[in-house]
Amino acid sequence: MIGNKGTAKERAARAGAELVESGMVVGLGSGSTSALMVGFLGQRVRELGLAIMAVATSEATAQMAREAGIPLLELDEVSGLDISLDGADEIDGQFAMIKGLGGALLREKIVAAASRRRVTLITAEKRVTQLGLVCPLPIEVSRFGLVHTERGLKRLGAETKIRRKGSELILTDGGNCIIDCEFAGIPDPAGLDPRVQGLPGVLETGLFVGLCDTLIIGSADRVEHIEVDRQGRRASD
Ligand code: 5RP
Repeated sequence: MIGNKGTAKERAARAGAELVESGMVVGLGSGSTSALMVGFLGQRVRELGLAIMAVATSEATAQMAREAGIPLLELDEVSGLDISLDGADEIDGQFAMIKGLGGALLREKIVAAASRRRVTLITAEKRVTQLGLVCPLPIEVSRFGLVHTERGLKRLGAETKIRRKGSELILTDGGNCIIDCEFAGIPDPAGLDPRVQGLPGVLETGLFVGLCDTLIIGSADRVEHIEVDRQGRRASD
């Protein structure tokens, strides 16, 4: 086992990497926590000779995995994944999440849905009583009809902001756009998700409901593991 040192984020990332066993096909998330996890996992591959294959949820993560010596596959080369390890932006008491501030939500959700065990790696401040009070909900949309799709989101009650750098649209790895939506709180993520998904032009939402089986929370001096059942309830301490 690699030593339990470092920041809260490093602790969560390391604890996630330690769940990976030889022979597994592993989904690698995106964002800063996942980047740390990829580093720790690469260390385990090199030092322990762990024989794994991985699927990356973004080009950035794929590049980090290659540098860390983790062999990669395309998602469609495997029938499923044993485990996926990814960060989150917010998680509520029923383990529903907002993801996608890093812009990889579409691939992250496809990989999570294809995984037998979905592990979320966070630091304590990402736990919230209600989603969307602080963090906007990122929604991946088609570039075609972007403004029409934005109007549809406004009709659902969102304050919207198309993600740009200066005047340029920020595009995802799939060449799509992101609209960050403020709903002033999301008390019913499972109810809102299909309404947003039902708008033409919406490709995926950053609402991840029922996609966390294990939550790992890193803090200053410890790591907490919470197992979650299929009803979104805490299954163990
Ligand atoms: C990227 C994501 C990330 O998992 C999320 O933004 C958390 O990132 P970080 O670990 O940097 O806080 O959903 O699309």
